[in-house]
Parts: sequence; C-alpha cells; structure tokens
Amino acid sequence: MAQATVHVCSQCGLQSTQWHGQCSGCRAWNTLVQERVPSTRGQGRARGGRGSLGRGGRGPLSGPRPLPRPLREVGAAPVARMSTGIGELDRVLGGGLVPGSLVLLGGSPGIGKSTLTNMVLGHLQQAGRRTLYVSGEESAEQVRLRAERLAPGALSVPILAETDLEAVLETIAAEAPQACVIDSVQTLNAADCAGGPGSVGQVREVAGRIMELAKARGVAVILVGHVTKDGALAGPRVLEHLVDCVLQFEGERERPYRELRALKNRFGSTNEAGLFEMRQGGLVEVLDASARFVAEATRAPGSVVLAAMEGSRPLLVEVQALVAPSELEQPRRVVSGLDRNRLALVLAILGRHGRVGTAGADVFVNVVGGVRLDEPGCDLAVALAVASASRGVPTTSFAGGAGGAPRACFGELGLTGELRWVGHPERRLEEAAKHGCEGVIAPVDSGGGACEVGTLREALELALPARAAGPARAAA
Ligand code: TYD
Ligand code: MG
Repeated sequence: MAQATVHVCSQCGLQSTQWHGQCSGCRAWNTLVQERVPSTRGQGRARGGRGSLGRGGRGPLSGPRPLPRPLREVGAAPVARMSTGIGELDRVLGGGLVPGSLVLLGGSPGIGKSTLTNMVLGHLQQAGRRTLYVSGEESAEQVRLRAERLAPGALSVPILAETDLEAVLETIAAEAPQACVIDSVQTLNAADCAGGPGSVGQVREVAGRIMELAKARGVAVILVGHVTKDGALAGPRVLEHLVDCVLQFEGERERPYRELRALKNRFGSTNEAGLFEMRQGGLVEVLDASARFVAEATRAPGSVVLAAMEGSRPLLVEVQALVAPSELEQPRRVVSGLDRNRLALVLAILGRHGRVGTAGADVFVNVVGGVRLDEPGCDLAVALAVASASRGVPTTSFAGGAGGAPRACFGELGLTGELRWVGHPERRLEEAAKHGCEGVIAPVDSGGGACEVGTLREALELALPARAAGPARAAA
C-alpha cells in the first residue's frame, strides 16, 4: 500500500496536502513537516474506541440502534482524586490528580518542571501509591542527584531512563503505576512514526499512545512539555485538545517565585493559580504571599498595593511604576506582570481624566515578585502607581508618614474616567484588612469599610495628597 502523507504545521497543527514555505493558518515560515496519514483503523483507536461500537467489524447499522439518554440518567461515579501532597498543585488541578487523566505540564527550561513532578511522585509513593518516573531527558543518575535535594520520599520513586516509546509503554503496562510522569513528551521516540523526536507527528503519536494506555489502565499521567521562546507549548500545542488538563509553570529563572496556572482543566476551574518558591530543598508553596508582598512594599513614590484576585483567591501585591523623562522619540512603555495594551489604556485615561500626562516620558510598570495578573481590577493600582511616580509623592495611609500601612486599592477604569465595580470586592477587602491595609480605595458598591470612589479623579485626590499640602492635608 502506498504511504499517504500530509504536511502538518508544527506551530498550529494545520494540515495541508502540499508543502508550503509559509503556513496558511498561522503565517509562520518553515513550519510544515511531512507526516504519515494515520490509517482509519488507527484513528478509530485514537478516538477512544468506546465499548463495542465501531469495533469487531460490526457495520454501523447492524444490531439495535443506540439510544440517547437524558443526562440525569447517566451514572457518573464521583471521581476519586489523589492528593499530590502539594496543596497549591492540588488546588490548581481542582482537588488532586484524577486517575486515568492526562495532564500536560508546560514551562521553559529550568523553571522547575522536573523538580515539581519528582516531588509529586515522591509524595504519592510515600502515601503508598505505585508511581513511575520516565526520564527521556536526563540519566537516572542525574534524576537521583536532584531527588537527593528533595524530601526523602523522592528517592523511593522508581525511575526508567528511556526514550523508546514501545519500551515505555511496556513498562507502564507491566508496572501498572497509579501515577506516571513522562519527562518530557518531546524526547520519546515512536519508532514507526516519521520525523525525529519532538516533531509534531511524533509528539502526537507518543501522547496518543500513552493516553490510550493510561485511560485503559486508569493511570494518571503527567506529560512534561517544553515551551518555545515565545511562550507557546512547542509541538505539544497540538496536544492541548487531547489532554484533560494543561498546566503552565512560569516565572523568571533568576527570581525565586514560580507560578502554576491551569490553561485548561476538564476537572476543575482554570482560574486557579498556585505560587511556589524555588529553594534549596525544592519547591516550597508560598501560602503567605500577601503578607510577604505587603511587608516588602517599599512605600516609596510609585509604589501601590493592589488587592488582586488570582482565581478564587485574593492576593495583595505591590505594583511599582517609574516615570522618567525620555530621550526617545517614541517613549518606552515597559510592563511586566500585566498586559501591555492595558497599560496604554490606563495611561490614556490618566492623561485625559486624571491630568497626569506621560507623553515624553518613559513609563515602566512592574508587578513585584514576578507575579502575572490578568484581571480588570488592576487598572486603578497601575494608574495610582504611575501618578504617584510622576508626581514624586508616595501613596501611603491616612496617617501619612513613611511608616504607615500601605494603602491598597482595586478597580477597573472605564474610558470615561469612571471607576468600575470588579468581582469579589468583599474578599479583596478582607484580605487587605487581614494584612493591615486600611482605607482601601475601591469602586462604588464594594461595601465593607472601603473608601468608595466613583471616578479616577476622586481616587487620585484620595490617594495622593496635593503636592504642596503634604501629609497634614491628607489627615484632614
Ligand atoms: P528543573 O526541575 O530541572 O527544571 P526543568 O525540569 O523545568 O527544566 O530545575 C530547575 C532549577 O531549579 C535548576 O536550575 C536548579 C534549581 N533547583 C533548586 O534551586 N533547588 C532544588 O532543590 C532543586 C531540585 C532545583
Ligand atoms: Mg527537566
């Protein structure tokens, strides 16, 4: 039989019968790679081959027609989850690992994926579960060296250093682990599939075969995947719809904080994020993040405490801004931890409705600690930080003076300069109160002792004492 092939884009997965220099889907250059067309039999298998349907050569219309049932009559056994022993990870997963589920963990090199997965298996092993760590990237010795730095359980995890997919599948079938880590999906090699390890065809085949086995045997699998320079899951992009859960591990390598988020989760919310710190003994959950960030807040001009929401959890973070005269024709707008376009919007609103002009100045805004926030409640904090930096006046508490508790704020800015209500005001206020932040500037209807303001201008008046008056006026 002649082997049919297609050309698949390694960026977006678009299939085309002919090779093109540029992908017509995502416009990326030189990303099309030739791949064998999966046989139709193989496809049926990959689609899950549920029960007897479509199996055993039975024609689609032979035998009784299957009857659809109302959803409420479908028996759904409660999923028994396995706790990973790492609270932050359990929360992001939606309550622990689900047996038979496939989790894709992405992140740039050196961020701590191997450390995290090693710790997870260590905890599970110690809790009496059978585990297996498949390393295609590092030798068994290298993995051991890492495990020595972690909690004692990590050393009892069985390891298989192997890149051949068949050998890995056989081992999983024979060892029947309850949880298995494949580190990484790009290093495994399916012998009967065209392309080198890490190519789209390979990655898809590897993940597909592992998924089949995992679902059949109820093995929870964590697939580790690499991330390209621009942040997309390389190759595994095409895996995102295949797996049950996509986790992204991010942070800056030079800084200790790491953030774990769910981009997709069939068994839980995608709003949750977990915060970790890389230490000598591995990753440590940061449970008191708000307390830390508030204590570290500089209280200098340009510093504002934001009562943000990370999923269902409130988090106090410091937002810092620097406004400096620019020598460039197009002044710089540098932002880290926030959306760049949002900064442009906030600057425009500040200029128009807050009389804080930033034209001709470089503006830098940073969420301290490497935390990334994408929620509308950040706007006000950014605006106040920029205004404070631009005027050179700190935004501190009512009492004034440098020692006072920092003043937290939250709220979304509308294009007409109004301050808009954002979700969970009560949780944000509670968190602020818990950490000693008083007089939180919040949108109208936030309730619970907040200093409610309706517009950006009012917020500015409240947060930044007029230049000449100083703290005495703010106290009045
Ligand atoms: P690693 O898990 O190998 O990253 P990845 O698998 O994502 O590529 O670990 C990355 C870094 O973490 C590495 O530079 C060393 C550091 N590290 C610690 O600081 N403390 C530790 O206890 C461990 C195990 C690693
Ligand atoms: Mg690794």
